[in-house]
Amino acid sequence: MNQVAIHRLLAGKSLAKPSKKDLPALFEKRLAANLTLIQDLYYSLYPGQDAAFEELPGMLGKLFRDRPEDLRFQDLERLNEGAWYQSEKWVGMQLYADRFSGDIRGLIDKLPYFEKLGVNFLHVMPLTRQPKGENDGGYAVSSHTEIDPRFGTEADFLEFTGACREKGVCLMLDFVVNHTSDQYPWAQKAREGDAEYAGYYYMFPDRTLPDLYEETLPEIFPETSPGNFTFIPETGQWVMTVFNQYQWDLNYTNPRVFLAMLKNMVVLANKGVDVLRFDALAFLWKKLGTNSQNLPEAHQLIALFRLCLQVVAPGVAILAEAIVAPREIVRYFGEGRLAGNECEAAYNATYMACLWNSIATKKTNLLYRSLADIPSIPESCSWINYIRCHDDIGLGFDDRQIEALGWNPAAHRRFLLDYYCQRLEWSPSRGVLFMYNPVTGDGRITGSTASLLGLEEALDSGNAADVETAFDKIVMMYGVILASAGIPLIYAGDEIGMLNDYSYLREKDKENDSRWVNRPIHDWEAVAALDDPNRLPSRIFSRLQSLIRLRRKLPSLGGGKSVLHHPGNEHLYVFERKAEKGSLLVVANFDENPQVLNATWVRNLGYLKGSAYTNLVDGTSHSVQSALLEIRPYGLLWLKTVDGAGAK
Ligand code: GLC
Repeated sequence: MNQVAIHRLLAGKSLAKPSKKDLPALFEKRLAANLTLIQDLYYSLYPGQDAAFEELPGMLGKLFRDRPEDLRFQDLERLNEGAWYQSEKWVGMQLYADRFSGDIRGLIDKLPYFEKLGVNFLHVMPLTRQPKGENDGGYAVSSHTEIDPRFGTEADFLEFTGACREKGVCLMLDFVVNHTSDQYPWAQKAREGDAEYAGYYYMFPDRTLPDLYEETLPEIFPETSPGNFTFIPETGQWVMTVFNQYQWDLNYTNPRVFLAMLKNMVVLANKGVDVLRFDALAFLWKKLGTNSQNLPEAHQLIALFRLCLQVVAPGVAILAEAIVAPREIVRYFGEGRLAGNECEAAYNATYMACLWNSIATKKTNLLYRSLADIPSIPESCSWINYIRCHDDIGLGFDDRQIEALGWNPAAHRRFLLDYYCQRLEWSPSRGVLFMYNPVTGDGRITGSTASLLGLEEALDSGNAADVETAFDKIVMMYGVILASAGIPLIYAGDEIGMLNDYSYLREKDKENDSRWVNRPIHDWEAVAALDDPNRLPSRIFSRLQSLIRLRRKLPSLGGGKSVLHHPGNEHLYVFERKAEKGSLLVVANFDENPQVLNATWVRNLGYLKGSAYTNLVDGTSHSVQSALLEIRPYGLLWLKTVDGAGAK
């Protein structure tokens, strides 16, 4: 039983119809229920440091009193519903406010667009103050709570969150928890020699400790920001900067940093944010002699944030942004007595990378192996499934899985880079290399979904058949994640098949970061022409729109359970979403040739009526002519159980 379940238990009947006077009493109960765990976690990180702990209950009380009343009622509704983020109704989109709609007011104007597509869960990239010029796409923040005037005012933001709430749109915002920009007030004070704020970062008087750290710390941006420390000329010190040189890592061994960031987090949540995306949370705790990623202390710290947030705002969820090995990712849902007490959601990065691997190899064997290797997650938790995001695609597969297939891991990764990054003549993909190291051959991949799947190449060469293939691949990839267990997240622009945007090469602040190739300015002309059903953007939009509508009507797509089937065909990916009524069978063919499934098996599962079936993806009806059900190249089937019954 996790803390949410305990809070529900303690709240009892008052959750059904809470009145205003119940609110403080329920807060007190949550505080009482979490305090011992909070105390344990706090003192395991900060032994003997009573002063900051003593401030904690008072601070939580104040943050609770500051929380607007409508949000407090929403908290209780969500607590009552439990795991509210697992519903099949949620379909997400990720976007940059400036590139999508200019600013926050633009986002308010675009709410009908999301509604038209069926999107009701938005991840808006960082909106709080950030330096002009290079800022890591917004991930170097100069404030965690104040809206950057480039995007609008505080009032605009509150109007936006209010409008989202009214329309039932869930809003996810980044909480850049690991670092601040070097322009952040704390960093500025530290640079001026203020000892208190210098203690908010990892500062060193010389290279002795930095050199020791470097022995085991990997580099995140080796091309543009080698090393993990940056010299500060003003003080003659070195500061830890694991990401870019202008992103200073926060020193969480200092309990003051925890308290200050806890306050920032709740202030942001209190503005009406529903999900906080904990950015780069694997890096939160640093320790000499380790790679300083995924350390047990990082988990304790995240759980500490979570349990405090839950006391104040139990309706706000945390998403883990940890692009790490599957066994490490699932630990962010919490383990042991912290199971279900850490993050409610996490990106399924392995799934994403394996889907791209399947496109390049036309085989699903690595996908199956990797999925079998991902441990199950606590029942109350959820994956976020995605094809593309604003970042690169890392090839972080488990080497053992690649070896088990008889492939050499290094050679296989090189093949994937070659396939996606325009180094193979026959590959239709137009990806771009990211952080490529010519010595080791390591690198990552950038590019938009459509360009990576061959649309750009097909349009340039004017080959109509290739355009259709790219269309099918886009629908297949999105159709798979829309049916997978978790919240699907569409990257803005993908819904209209936007291609790579090469304009970053002409901008000084961006030219060295090829991730900008997949952060295009939204094509509103294509949107204005959506009524023309023959245009490609319209076709992609309308196909996704209908898949989303279907998803939202299929309760089997809610919750976290999925049954993986091994069809004995290495090109197919087959899984089932079971429910008492209306189970769904999903079949995706990653090959350029038609592939077959045993029809009797499909019939026995309950998805064929005699020999007939309807593919929900395009509404077409078919009849199986032999013992085999054929799936066309890059075809996707969504089959519902006959007569809406549960699957066998
Ligand atoms: C996350 C973001 C990425 C950023 C990094 C550092 O991984 O997704 O864009 O560069 O954190 O903040």
